[in-house]
Amino acid sequence: KRASGCPQKGLFQPSDSSELVQECLQQFKVTRTQLQQIQASLLDSMEQALTGEASPAPGVRMLPTYVGSTPHGNEQGNFVVLELGASGASLRVLWVTLTGIKGQRVEPKSQEFVIPQEVVLGTGQQLFDFAAHCLFEFLGAHSVGNQGLQLGFSFSFPCHQTGLDRVRWRGNRDSGWRGNAAPMKAFGSVTQLFCPQSTLISWTKGFRCSGVEGQDVVQLLRDAIQRQGAYSIDVVAVVNDTVGTMMGCEPGVGSCEVGLVIDTGTNVCYMEEARHVAMLDEDRGRTCISVEWGSFNDDGALGPVLTTFDHALDHASLNPGAQRFEKMIGGLYLGELVRLVLAHLAQHRVLFGGYTSPALLSQGSILLEHVAEMEDPTTGAARVHTILQELGLSPEASDAELVQRVCAAVCSRAAQLCAAALAAILSRLQRSREQQILQVTVATGGQVLERHPRFRGILQETVKLLASECNVSFIPSVDGGGRGVAMVTAVAARLAAHRRL
Ligand code: GLC
Repeated sequence: KRASGCPQKGLFQPSDSSELVQECLQQFKVTRTQLQQIQASLLDSMEQALTGEASPAPGVRMLPTYVGSTPHGNEQGNFVVLELGASGASLRVLWVTLTGIKGQRVEPKSQEFVIPQEVVLGTGQQLFDFAAHCLFEFLGAHSVGNQGLQLGFSFSFPCHQTGLDRVRWRGNRDSGWRGNAAPMKAFGSVTQLFCPQSTLISWTKGFRCSGVEGQDVVQLLRDAIQRQGAYSIDVVAVVNDTVGTMMGCEPGVGSCEVGLVIDTGTNVCYMEEARHVAMLDEDRGRTCISVEWGSFNDDGALGPVLTTFDHALDHASLNPGAQRFEKMIGGLYLGELVRLVLAHLAQHRVLFGGYTSPALLSQGSILLEHVAEMEDPTTGAARVHTILQELGLSPEASDAELVQRVCAAVCSRAAQLCAAALAAILSRLQRSREQQILQVTVATGGQVLERHPRFRGILQETVKLLASECNVSFIPSVDGGGRGVAMVTAVAARLAAHRRL
């Protein structure tokens, strides 16, 4: 085995280099037919999952969120929002004020905390204690009082929300809200509160805290808050980040019925006709479904687009075999795919004169922000040199150009795959609404869309190609979805108050 850093005498001679480059980049090309196959297969998986008859289980989960309508814009109050799991190993606390007046917005207060790696891979109790600690630090710093605080918990992992199974809640149809609430005794023994429940199915995106899968994450958070004392906080709602994104869409742009997130992971939610959701036993209205398309795994459709680099990334991940679709799109993985291709090309003497560096050979050394900066049309060429030098490499001018081509190949594929998946959602909406020309607004959020210079453009262009009969507007989310979480919390709090009367 050669020492890292030395040029490798490989099978490939310099004359083979352009062939090797072609071979590597070609693997990331996806044809229109392949995209259409993914679109059709995902639609099929979604429809099977809705009927509840899928066997074996299709990749997508189609989880009911018990949100029954998009916001009205008259929600009001002050809410604490705790976001866990949206942007990698960080956690965000927000103080959101909803004025109840359409179009009137108060800038939220917010603070981000980095979750130490030992906590991300530690015990559940450590994670929730850390979350409660950050929450209290934020509340202390912003002097918001310590009584009667209402919290919306944005927990961006696949969860079964089970509350409604216990209470068939049909009250207050006007609010369009179907519950997300179950009765339970909390904070002492007398008060009956109506609390959300959300059971984690499995960790994704590099989290692996023990003792949380199969548990109610709201209860774990509530226990951690109680352990720290100091504040009385009522966890009134739990939501996926896609739901926060959809619900926070500024009123006035028309009803927004899809929430798309491309952050460290990727997922979408949309409003489905409730009568089509076998799990719900409802015959009227619409309900929001979190698709969890990151776990889409149809070999027939995905097999042809998976590269040797995708396989390598999956093998080395914390959850091999799981979230295969997400691992081609999510921001947590794009840098790593680029790194694997660059290391391969360097090891075959096509890049960096055949030299590698310990950083280039280390998992996770290239991040989404590096890729986004290197692809920036104005500053990318200069940044690419600096970034590669920081990785301990000495790039030539031709190296820099090839590195940019690799980044472009990996990210273009990601955007196209995401577009195929979104086209499946649009086909589903069109079919269930029985509309020939679908008019729909998609709220979007996440670092990949916000930071990558070309991702949004490719995504929108490809959606147009694959769903030409749909008229789609894309609207960036407000406050990274925090406002939407507050909206859901406002409705849940109001309904919980009604139940207590
Ligand atoms: C992962 C999670 C999903 C979340 C998405 C985007 O796919 O499983 O719940 O919405 O990442 O953060």
